[in-house]
Amino acid sequence: MDKTRIGVIGCGNISDIYLKNLRELEGLEVVAIADLYYDKAIEKAREYAIPEVLEVDQLLEDKSINLVINLTIPAAHADVSLRALESGKHVYVEKPLAISLEDGKRVLAKAEEKGLLVGSAPDTFLGGGLQTCKKLIEDGAIGEPIAATAFMMGHGPESWHPDPEFFYRVGAGPMFDMGPYYLTALINLIGPVRRLTGSARVTSPERKITSEPKFGEKIKVETPTHVAGIIDFENGAIGTLVTSFDVWGSKTPFLEIYGTEGSLSVPDPNTFGGPVLLRKSGELEWVEVAFTHGSIENSRGIGVIDMVNALKSGRLHRASGELAYHVLEIMHGIHESSLKGEHYHMTSTCRQPESLPSSILS
Ligand SMILES: NC(=O)c1ccc[n+]([C@@H]2O[C@H](COP(=O)([O-])OP(=O)(O)OC[C@H]3O[C@@H](n4cnc5c(N)ncnc54)[C@H](O)[C@@H]3O)[C@@H](O)[C@H]2O)c1
Repeated sequence: MDKTRIGVIGCGNISDIYLKNLRELEGLEVVAIADLYYDKAIEKAREYAIPEVLEVDQLLEDKSINLVINLTIPAAHADVSLRALESGKHVYVEKPLAISLEDGKRVLAKAEEKGLLVGSAPDTFLGGGLQTCKKLIEDGAIGEPIAATAFMMGHGPESWHPDPEFFYRVGAGPMFDMGPYYLTALINLIGPVRRLTGSARVTSPERKITSEPKFGEKIKVETPTHVAGIIDFENGAIGTLVTSFDVWGSKTPFLEIYGTEGSLSVPDPNTFGGPVLLRKSGELEWVEVAFTHGSIENSRGIGVIDMVNALKSGRLHRASGELAYHVLEIMHGIHESSLKGEHYHMTSTCRQPESLPSSILS
């Protein structure tokens, strides 16, 4: 079967792991690369032996490219995805799907109109850690899930990211930047969401960059930096999610699921591996569970592979635009609930992604 010809747009920080993981895979080939800054694309093309460096418009117009991986900044996600779909290409976009719900809807509508697929990061839920958790829940290890807690507690990316301004713009902040990992994991393990309650605050109007090369520069904060949400799932389970760029230290777990027959300690959903810990009803100790699935190292791009395979077999892809839109609405809903002082009722839903059969993506 013909290889899926992929064009990558966006050559920043996250592009390396995609380009590293996607090279030499069967069934797909990264044939071209582009960035707003041509030099950045040249550099990545050299490093990962990508045949062609193009201007963004050229890549979008190239009829031989079937799928675009959109690794631009969040503010450019919708525009680049819409242009790629318009020119007949499937799209896989880094998270979030878009900044506004309107743009997210436009991306899904355009894909439907054109008969094309949209996929979206995160794909960490396809890693061995989170797939093992899913299998445990499906096998009844904790009974019926009734609640979950999830915490992303940190002090922001300005200490390590070379270009951290975008994290404090509208459409970023701790919830839009990190929430997708936690929410996608929760939906994968528990199911879709029906209602939200939130509280959010801006703790400091300005942040100081301490990473290089912009050390000492100030960032104006345009989005809440501490966001707490209560999540009512469609199946009745109740989740608590706190995301923060304001916390210096915390011993809270990444993610735990509580069931009628036990508790599950889920690994960091921004990783692909473990540890996975289980404590059954009546037992005093947590027991580490062996992985049932592979892909436990940094496997970013596994969602693209799943999508390429789905395109060939006609089945549904797991890291779907529908799932990413539901996640986007949850993040907006938590902020809106905080602003309005009332519950937010979800208007979208999504299918819970199918478990992976084993370590192989077929
Ligand atoms: N850095 C990480 O650790 C990380 C991890 C997971 C996901 N992500 C996500 O990946 C995306 C990119 O993040 P990053 O850290 O690589 O950002 P970055 O700022 O390092 O890189 C973004 C790149 O996109 C290019 N770009 C911006 N607008 C463009 C446009 N309209 N057309 C073409 N190119 C454009 C920029 O020139 C830059 O090279 C974001 O959505 C982010 O949320 C980042």
